[in-house]
Amino acid sequence: MSKLAGKVAVVTGASKGIGAGIAKALAKNGAAVVVNYASSREGAEAVVAAIVAAGGRAVAVRGDVTKATEAQAVIEAAVTQFGRLDVLVNNSGVYAFATIEEVTEAHYRQLFDVNVLGVLLASQAAAKHLGEGGSIVNISSAITDIEMPASAVYTATKSAVNAITGVLANELAPRRIRVNAVSPGYVVTEGTQSAGIAGSEMEAGLVAQTPLGRAGQPDDVADVVAFLASDEARWVTGAVINAAGGVR
Ligand SMILES: NC(=O)c1ccc[n+]([C@@H]2O[C@H](COP(=O)([O-])OP(=O)(O)OC[C@H]3O[C@@H](n4cnc5c(N)ncnc54)[C@H](OP(=O)(O)O)[C@@H]3O)[C@@H](O)[C@H]2O)c1
Repeated sequence: MSKLAGKVAVVTGASKGIGAGIAKALAKNGAAVVVNYASSREGAEAVVAAIVAAGGRAVAVRGDVTKATEAQAVIEAAVTQFGRLDVLVNNSGVYAFATIEEVTEAHYRQLFDVNVLGVLLASQAAAKHLGEGGSIVNISSAITDIEMPASAVYTATKSAVNAITGVLANELAPRRIRVNAVSPGYVVTEGTQSAGIAGSEMEAGLVAQTPLGRAGQPDDVADVVAFLASDEARWVTGAVINAAGGVR
């Protein structure tokens, strides 16, 4: 399996969870990978070690995607370390849930900064280096389809990601750069565990709404991202694909 042979990818927020799974899947398919992290250096280094142990190429690079200079530095690392950039996966994201009574300015700003501004800044930096055949894959969420109570801010950030995906697909199409999104359903990750979702009533409710009848795993999402990043998806742009066990 080497559908990404010769390609260089940046995966933001790849120190754990879905991002770590994506970084490993892209490397397994032949890409050299920049494993970005914001604070979890050990996690990112463990992902790099696993990729290298399996015969792949990867490097861990710190950078907060909400800061333009840091987002640029993460993208530049792909060029300095591996000579080019073919794929950006905008995976970094934060989630927290609040009823309308509980929403605060800080809650709004934190979620929009990472989930929306971070996507824009990393994409802006990447667009300078991507050439024909390049691609951006944004990690959205199937929550945009289910409109779950107490998720107004988070759902709004991911609806914005879907909108950005469509606009950038049109904007970058003349340069033959594709832009797509993958919308996971509920996935068991370090993030959902520390948010207290794993083992909770909320988790039971999310699984109950999933036609395929189980929680997702990072690999369930990562394999779809690897497809979209590859030339097998050469005619796919502007798409938002649910990898959600049938949630829609
Ligand atoms: N898990 C789910 O059920 C689910 C469902 C649908 C969509 N998603 C989406 O999938 C993505 C990953 O979710 P996850 O559950 O795997 O999350 P996670 O386990 O909490 O991991 C989040 C990742 O994002 C990074 N990150 C956070 N803020 C950042 C910043 N400012 N700059 C750069 N990186 C930053 C974290 O880096 P550090 O650890 O270094 O801080 C970490 O690597 C998110 O976009 C999320 O919204 C998740």
